[in-house]
Amino acid sequence: SPKLEYLLLETRGRVGLVTLHRPKALNALCNGLFVELNQVLKELDDNKDIGAIVLTGSERAFAAGADIKEMKDRNFIENYLEDFLGHWTQITKIRKPIIAAVNGFALGGGCELAMMCDIIYAGDKALFGQPEIKLGTIPGAGGTQRLIKAVGKSKAMEMCLTGSVNLTAEEAERAGLVSKVLPADVVVDEAVKTAEKIANLSQPVVQMVKDAINQSFEIPLSAGLTFERRLFHSTFATKDQKEGMAAFAEKRKANFTHN
Ligand code: CAA
Repeated sequence: SPKLEYLLLETRGRVGLVTLHRPKALNALCNGLFVELNQVLKELDDNKDIGAIVLTGSERAFAAGADIKEMKDRNFIENYLEDFLGHWTQITKIRKPIIAAVNGFALGGGCELAMMCDIIYAGDKALFGQPEIKLGTIPGAGGTQRLIKAVGKSKAMEMCLTGSVNLTAEEAERAGLVSKVLPADVVVDEAVKTAEKIANLSQPVVQMVKDAINQSFEIPLSAGLTFERRLFHSTFATKDQKEGMAAFAEKRKANFTHN
């Protein structure tokens, strides 16, 4: 990777740990940051030694949203012609699991970025919200679409329509937006632990699970069930399925080789 301006990147075992690092702006998601993020995630996705990814920010902010100062003077034609924020969706094309470890503010685009990840762990001071309406605009990267699937219509409407009803970590867990609330200082380590666990399972089978669950948002149930069953069938073409089931029968730990 060339030198990164807005991110920190490290690997821990088979886990890629990406830290949003724009402290002066509470990790506001400027264009340059997102270009780097897409690039780094793609590199991790292509790296055979990596099995899962953790995305985090600082203790104060996961991300306080799209960069308001950078976008305030944009006009409609520019937005439309350049498909402004269209490249944010590249993160949803990453095939390895991504765990968001969220501390502090996850507002606007920050909340949307967390929701584009596969699992969210929240530190106990995390705050989730969609304040765009207070700026005279609406969420532009999934806030009106993914939030409802995570927390239901009433809460999603309340958050997006008022812009000021935010979810604390506890509330986010109760609503199903996050899977775990942890003390702020351990949330990254716990996310890495879970990511490492996933990364040591069969890589192709892990990717099939992600693929199958994501299909449930796109296609009708009967088609989703067929999609799932065909993938299930295809796992029997892997060495890892033979190893996993043999290990069970022989009462030993499976040693997956990711093929
Ligand atoms: N864009 C640009 N700069 C931001 C920013 C953002 N989204 N959020 C924070 N900053 C900057 C502040 O301007 C400030 O910079 P200066 O020191 O140069 O003044 C610095 O980060 C620290 O922020 P504050 O002084 O405001 O910190 P605070 O603790 O008083 O408040 C906050 C924290 C409540 C998160 C507040 O910063 C805030 O409301 N931020 C904006 C949140 C927001 O509206 N997000 C939605 C953006 S629109 C969007 O995301 C569209 C979309 O759907 C894709």
